[in-house]
Amino acid sequence: MAEAQARQRGGYAEDVSAERLAEIGLRFEVDGEIATITLDRPEKRNAQTFATWSALARIGESLPEQVRVVVVKGEGPSFSAGIDLRMFTTEGVPGQGSFNSAAASEGADLEQRVRQAQAGFLWLRRPEIVSIAAVHGHAVGAGFQLALACDLRIVADDVSFCMKEPALGLVPDLTGTKPLVELVGLAKAIDICLTARTVRADEAMRIGLAEKVVARGDLEQAVQGKIAELLSTNRDAAAATKRLLQGAGSRTLEEQCAAEGLEQAGRIKALFG
Ligand code: CAA
Repeated sequence: MAEAQARQRGGYAEDVSAERLAEIGLRFEVDGEIATITLDRPEKRNAQTFATWSALARIGESLPEQVRVVVVKGEGPSFSAGIDLRMFTTEGVPGQGSFNSAAASEGADLEQRVRQAQAGFLWLRRPEIVSIAAVHGHAVGAGFQLALACDLRIVADDVSFCMKEPALGLVPDLTGTKPLVELVGLAKAIDICLTARTVRADEAMRIGLAEKVVARGDLEQAVQGKIAELLSTNRDAAAATKRLLQGAGSRTLEEQCAAEGLEQAGRIKALFG
């Protein structure tokens, strides 16, 4: 039943057993309030496939309720080299098909597959969690967008972000365009995407793409430090505050004040009611 539902949702079923994730090139570990997702196909620079995105979506759906922080990181020399380029060949990725196969050539089907893939990235914004991308080495295309899907980016000094899609005749479609514009502004986003140029650590920090830059060897420790800070605040207040902050951009000041009042009334009731 669960498998049938997953198949219906994603067009291909994924479970999140450690064995299945290992086949896909992912690891998922939960330690109390902290979950860690590791892209684990270093020999292919953590290139991502349909199965990666489907498994990410399943991880999001089945995330234990106690989790407050989700870390996304990459094994080996790169965070992620983006989409597995075999997905643009006629052969595709074994068992997963291709964007370039006859079966996928219908516009509606292609659009649906993109929307399914996006589900792997969207849940990382959930108010109940804070997601942190720990980014080192290359973060190309879908890799850059996975980092953008997270709330915070802590990066190593060897990081290189590149929105390669326009150079390949494609658009960034894995939920990355909105956070990129929100973080760096429209002009800088146009510059980064339409030139497909590389953004290195110092620029990432300067333009607001990264919250912190540290030496490669200090990345893990920097992430642990941020997790400790995040876990020091009240869980429910943190979720309510994230909801407020996420909604701020699309509300008028008056609407935002009303939303603050509503959330605070809920908090006061929960604390003292
Ligand atoms: N897909 C499949 N395999 C990949 C890959 C990818 N995206 N990136 C790297 N690999 C493989 C290589 O083919 C190579 O495999 P073999 O050892 O079997 O030959 C292995 O990983 C190591 O690659 P390199 O030797 O190139 O590693 P490097 O450290 O010297 O360079 C890199 C790293 C700069 C990321 C380089 O591998 C590269 O440019 N990769 C392609 C990046 C790319 O164009 N990605 C697509 C972005 S667009 C996107 O993601 C689209 C979308 O969402 C719509």
